[in-house]
Amino acid sequence: MSVFTADTGHEQVVFCSDQASGLRAIIAIYSTALGPALGGTRFYPYATEADAIHDVLDLSKGMAYKNALGGLDHGGGKAVIWGDPATDKSEPLLRAYGRFVESLGGRYYTAADVGTYVADMDMVARESRFVTGRSPEHGGAGDSSVLTAYGVFQGMRAAATHRWGVDNLAGRRVGIAGVGKVGKHLVEHLITDGAAVVVADVSTAAVQAVQERFPQVEAVAPDALVATPMDVYAPSALGGALDEETVAALQAEIVCGAANNQLAHPGMDKVVADRGILYAPDYVVNAGGVIQVADEIEGFVFERAKHRAAKIYDTTLEILRMAETEGVSPAVAADRLAERRMADVGRLRTIHLAR
Ligand SMILES: NC(=O)c1ccc[n+]([C@@H]2O[C@H](COP(=O)([O-])OP(=O)(O)OC[C@H]3O[C@@H](n4cnc5c(N)ncnc54)[C@H](O)[C@@H]3O)[C@@H](O)[C@H]2O)c1
Repeated sequence: MSVFTADTGHEQVVFCSDQASGLRAIIAIYSTALGPALGGTRFYPYATEADAIHDVLDLSKGMAYKNALGGLDHGGGKAVIWGDPATDKSEPLLRAYGRFVESLGGRYYTAADVGTYVADMDMVARESRFVTGRSPEHGGAGDSSVLTAYGVFQGMRAAATHRWGVDNLAGRRVGIAGVGKVGKHLVEHLITDGAAVVVADVSTAAVQAVQERFPQVEAVAPDALVATPMDVYAPSALGGALDEETVAALQAEIVCGAANNQLAHPGMDKVVADRGILYAPDYVVNAGGVIQVADEIEGFVFERAKHRAAKIYDTTLEILRMAETEGVSPAVAADRLAERRMADVGRLRTIHLAR
């Protein structure tokens, strides 16, 4: 594919190569309408260069929408490093990558994503000022899953308000698919709120860790969860959780979880809505992590970041109400709201400021 002819709407796509360290990276900036682009670096062994390009273009656009609805002064960007993180990651490669990030002069801020970790960001930050999601020892905010889970819980409360008229999950049964970094914190919010929780995870160690802490949590096999009676389904493992088969079997009235790209393909939002299931758009409710790393750029203050993540409740509720009023799915309403903010706030840059 050609990024010039694909008409993807991106502002800038940068190919970065350093043969000696083996670095092959692509940085995509979808939009800087709201501020410097912000989004993580995915380190992944793509089958082809075209796959890497596709992914970085999709992910960077997604970040523009997520950051817009997260209320951030950031546009959307993302980077991919084409390689196997288990064998190709090295100090020279990460630092070479850092120099390319630096070369963009702050048009793009990077952070961790699939295949990259807080320690990698510390390394990249040795070559660039435009890195966030670093370790607390290096002035960073550390693990973002705490606020991601908190934000998902706020989104779930908003969905409960919209569907049942109560802003809590007390007495409801919530099924969580995936109790990893985010899912395990979500369990705690729900138990504290008075919900019954049923979990499923391919890792028995992950399930055990949750049950050791909360013995009242039930566990079922991963393929049995969707058909289990529950009020809320929280996909918090991999993308693509909502396909035709899953949605047909689903017992829940609400879907609200941490996983990215839950709708398996375009049109699934309608399939979900047609079954009477209320879907809280994934990128709206899981924005707590990017809200955290954005806060770090100002000098991380946990309470301030948490306060911002709490607004996910209001945003989710606004989207669910807008969807009802405009007769569209929540996914379409979310996109419309994000596009509106990018246009309305982005337009302010046309007001010239004398220097
Ligand atoms: N960590 C963050 O701050 C953050 C932010 C935004 C979005 N997300 C998204 O949330 C999801 C979870 O992220 P995480 O950081 O907790 O990841 P993680 O890797 O720590 O946890 C994922 C868990 O899902 C389990 N799992 C994998 N396949 C499964 C399956 N088929 N059925 C049930 N369980 C399965 C894994 O064993 C693991 O315990 C991902 O989709 C991620 O992209 C995470």
